[in-house]
Amino acid sequence: MNNMIDYKSLMVQAQEARKKSYSPYSHFCVGAALLTKSGKVYTGCNIENAAFTPTNCAERTAIFKAVSEGEREFEAIAIVGGKETQEGGFCAPCGVCRQVIAEFCEKDFQIVLGNENKYKVYTLDTLLPFSFTKSNL
Ligand code: THU
Repeated sequence: MNNMIDYKSLMVQAQEARKKSYSPYSHFCVGAALLTKSGKVYTGCNIENAAFTPTNCAERTAIFKAVSEGEREFEAIAIVGGKETQEGGFCAPCGVCRQVIAEFCEKDFQIVLGNENKYKVYTLDTLLPFSFTKSNL
């Protein structure tokens, strides 16, 4: 936990982003809100595709939006997901998203899972131990 971060606000923004989810195949809607070290928030939703493989997760949408705008330093990400007929809730990031997060974020990067009323904060190191990153090259 980092007392400077408004986790609840980040979660609310992830819930808002989830409403934009394009998931006609899985009907599983995910939203993410990524906080930069400069205090900006970039949101993202999952975007599916008829060919399945091009599907992009909400976390990567948010990260790619931010990086494409020149941001590379991040503090935290809130993620919320669930079936479209249900309220968003706990949704752990997939392995690919964890690896993309590891490209830009330190081990103490905060990953907030749950919803705006009940969430838990994890570090990147907890969710992706023994990671392979640029420091290995
Ligand atoms: N999904 C995400 O957007 N983020 C995750 O962390 C897990 C999975 C999406 C991908 C796909 O559109 C749907 O959820 C079902 O896997």
